[in-house]
Amino acid sequence: MEGTVKKAILPAAGLGTRFLPATKASPKEMLPIVDKPMIQYAVEEATACGIEDFLIITGKHKRAIEDHFDSAFELEANLKRSGKKNLLDEINKLRDVNFAYIRQKAALGLGHAVLCARPFVKDEPFAVLLSDIVIPRGDSLMRNMIRLYGKLKCPIIAVTKVKREEVSRYGIIDGIEESAGIYRIKDLVEKPRPGESPSDLAIMGRYVLTPDIFGALRRCRPGRGGEIQLTDAIKGLLKKQAVYGYLFEDRWYDAGDKLGFLTATVDMALENPELSKGFRRHLIRKISELKE
Ligand code: G1P
Repeated sequence: MEGTVKKAILPAAGLGTRFLPATKASPKEMLPIVDKPMIQYAVEEATACGIEDFLIITGKHKRAIEDHFDSAFELEANLKRSGKKNLLDEINKLRDVNFAYIRQKAALGLGHAVLCARPFVKDEPFAVLLSDIVIPRGDSLMRNMIRLYGKLKCPIIAVTKVKREEVSRYGIIDGIEESAGIYRIKDLVEKPRPGESPSDLAIMGRYVLTPDIFGALRRCRPGRGGEIQLTDAIKGLLKKQAVYGYLFEDRWYDAGDKLGFLTATVDMALENPELSKGFRRHLIRKISELKE
């Protein structure tokens, strides 16, 4: 079943305004969580599920992403010479993965970014991963979504329960739970106000879609924030086909938000064998200072 989805799209054209000034001339997707850029977590998650071809949708000031996934002869030669095999293996990890890039020429929203991928996708199902949602065990989520797609042959969207006061940060689904954690979606709303939200099930940046989405995206009018929204296009699909939500209940971070980014950094630093001891000691000291 895993072999059914071979391509992934990573939209990375956003302006990253929440991280200004850091993102003035550098991509938000390259901000590191501990020592790895955010976008690499998403790429590794997808390659672990058998995805081989990536299309990264870029925009202005995003060249560093292309350089990051390219080979680096001088650096490699230097690491080889100085016997730093671990680092060499680390930077060569994604050597056999194919990356293609396309520019979204205007900031018209996530839906428009996905529409730019039309020539790359052709007639295959594909995954979409939003790299500012960081999921430590995301490969198991994506694997389950691909499996479910293989069974149902319908678009599958990862959803998770969020607090009522957080619904306006996400796309929210309304659905009927057909079996444990699998929702047949009846409606979707992009960033509703808490009082108007149909549920607490938020779309969390992982999708398995089919090329039908492109027709739906072309029919979409600008939605929330004046942008072409992927959520609205998926809603458009509902008239003709079933779409399912797959409930994710493990740990994830919204690293597109400063607090989420910091939380991910702290947690992952505590789990990093090189850092955990020293960082833990620092945190304990800090917490006791805060208590004083
Ligand atoms: C996008 C989607 C939204 C989703 C969110 C997190 O919003 O439009 O439906 O819930 O990602 O995956 P953004 O955070 O780009 O505004």
